[in-house]
Amino acid sequence: MGSRELLGRLLSPLAVVVRDKVALAGVVITTSAAFTLIGFWAVELLSGHPTHPYAGIVLFMILPGIFVGGLLLIPAGLLLRRWRERRGAPVAPLGLDKELLKNAAMLVGALTAVNVVLLGVATYKGVEYMDSTTFCGLACHQVMSPEYTAYINSPHSRVACTQCHIGPGASWFVKSKLSGARQVVAVTLGTFSRPIPSPVHELRPARETCEQCHWPQKFHGDRLQVRTKFADDESNTASHSILLMRIGGSQAGGQVGIHGRHFDAKSRVRYQTTDDRRQVIPRVIYVGDDGQEVEYAIDGAPPATAGEWREMDCVDCHNRPTHAFDMPESGLNRAMQAGRIPADLPFVKREAAAAIQADYPDRDVAAREIVARITSFYEKNYPEVAKARAADVRKAAEAARDVWLRNVFPDMKLVWGSHPNNIGHEDFPGCFRCHDELHKAKDGRTISQDCTTCHGVLAMEEPDPPMLADLGLK
Ligand code: HEC
Ligand code: HEC
Ligand code: HEC
Ligand code: HEC
Ligand code: HEC
Repeated sequence: MGSRELLGRLLSPLAVVVRDKVALAGVVITTSAAFTLIGFWAVELLSGHPTHPYAGIVLFMILPGIFVGGLLLIPAGLLLRRWRERRGAPVAPLGLDKELLKNAAMLVGALTAVNVVLLGVATYKGVEYMDSTTFCGLACHQVMSPEYTAYINSPHSRVACTQCHIGPGASWFVKSKLSGARQVVAVTLGTFSRPIPSPVHELRPARETCEQCHWPQKFHGDRLQVRTKFADDESNTASHSILLMRIGGSQAGGQVGIHGRHFDAKSRVRYQTTDDRRQVIPRVIYVGDDGQEVEYAIDGAPPATAGEWREMDCVDCHNRPTHAFDMPESGLNRAMQAGRIPADLPFVKREAAAAIQADYPDRDVAAREIVARITSFYEKNYPEVAKARAADVRKAAEAARDVWLRNVFPDMKLVWGSHPNNIGHEDFPGCFRCHDELHKAKDGRTISQDCTTCHGVLAMEEPDPPMLADLGLK
């Protein structure tokens, strides 16, 4: 049989099938969806650009659905027709004879091979897309914008959302897709909570996510932290705290520190919490070096059956490793230390703090008014500075605006301090939820708040600590 004849035989059933309107619609839909898909894949491959999140929804989720839908219409059309024929409806016969049916089987076989490849690629690309940071962070832009904005500016901005939120393995993948489907409904109906609640109660244990990259036993030594604050006076007087964070893990040997005390091969601390945000911790159980459990409780702790018990893991301290929102003070201090806000502009700290803590209805208004407010302060009160250092004033105003834009999202009701950060003890209870000297064991021991337990304090809010020069930082 020549190739032309073969083609003729293969296509002959098609010529018959398309006499049915429903089946014809199926053929047209499937074929156009297939060509569109292949065309888009080619464009994506050649351009090398990641796909726009909305285009992605169409390309990776809707089009493959249309393709399958069209495919299903073909047999559906034929079956419907046969059903109507049997019930005696006046249907023009399609004229399918034995020969045609044999040819049809051949055609279906050939097309199935093509369809399997097409659907395989489509599924793979769909899953890849749904796991991409673009999809998680940008597809429902308004909802995720606070977390995405913080993420982009974090040390994890090259770690995919799924590496912390889903992790490896099929079962969590399926779980996440189910909860994802619920989320899509919530976004469509607008019923999601604002802000998105934290902690994430069904977050995968850190053992299977964070610990793929960092594991708690290996931490060793001390980590130096220099914290600079600026006061509200005319010269924005700077002061510095220098801390040596004792971060050692259990493999650090004699110097077991922050990580080693709460973890070894597994978690050493369990705790009871009675509020939804895990800020109130009446009871703590600790596995000591001798393997014995010690229970610490505050006076008047509720019964042990109240609230939730939780095994401590990374996110009990690092609850904002990547979605870290600043408080106004810490955000401005950092911008000033980095030189984005020139620290020699008179009263710049005080004015910036006032500007970013005022109420604004939305992000556009805030962006405009914060800049206007700060520049007009200098025009009114320091006209010579406003003139001679116009560029610096503008730079300061824009940096203050950016601090606000990074941290406040009125449409998501996310404001300063909405999400407490559990590292430290300055702005939120953090470590002092347990380390408060109020949690007592039966023998009277407490969970320590001694200032040198967690960090050596080399300088404490000093204007000019000699240590800075010793360290070569000044
Ligand atoms: C380094 C790990 C990590 C990465 C990467 C990461 N997250 Fe998170 N995310 C967390 C942790 C930890 C929490 C808070 C968990 C808790 O307190 O229970 C969280 C919380 C959230 C929340 C709940 C609201 C909140 O602010 O606590 C959302 C929404 C979220 N992440 C979205 C994303 C999106 C979107 C991406 C990617 C653009 C992403 N995350 C990337 C670790 C991560
Ligand atoms: C896919 C790998 C990966 C995963 C998963 C991951 N991280 Fe990281 N983490 C990194 C990288 C890379 C850095 C940046 C290291 C650097 O800049 O030196 C980092 C940095 C950090 C830092 C130091 C940040 C700083 O300011 O220096 C902390 C704390 C941290 N991660 C905690 C976590 C926690 C908690 C989780 C789980 C919720 C997690 N990481 C999940 C790769 C990962
Ligand atoms: C008891 C609280 C606590 C727990 C639990 C905890 N950490 Fe930390 N971690 C800290 C503190 C405090 C620091 C020092 C922070 C700083 O200097 O800003 C730190 C520092 C780090 C750093 C940066 C280390 C460096 O060398 O700079 C990484 C990475 C990190 N932690 C990952 C983890 C991971 C992963 C887990 C879970 C296995 C974890 N931590 C559990 C409190 C904790
Ligand atoms: C859920 C309660 C809880 C939280 C929150 C917590 N810890 Fe602890 N921590 C403990 C317990 C319990 C011990 C062990 C006390 C003992 O030695 O009996 C401990 C011990 C330590 C030790 C060792 C103390 C010593 O004397 O050797 C360090 C260091 C430490 N924690 C640092 C931190 C830091 C830093 C944070 C905050 C980032 C923090 N912890 C948050 C419960 C907690
Ligand atoms: C249970 C552990 C723990 C104890 C006890 C503790 N700290 Fe801290 N401290 C921390 C951690 C963790 C940070 C935050 C480091 C960071 O932000 O990365 C911190 C930060 C600080 C800072 C810098 C704050 C800033 O942002 O400028 C100062 C100052 C400080 N501590 C002083 C003290 C003093 C004084 C005491 C004694 C009353 C004390 N600490 C007790 C864990 C502890």
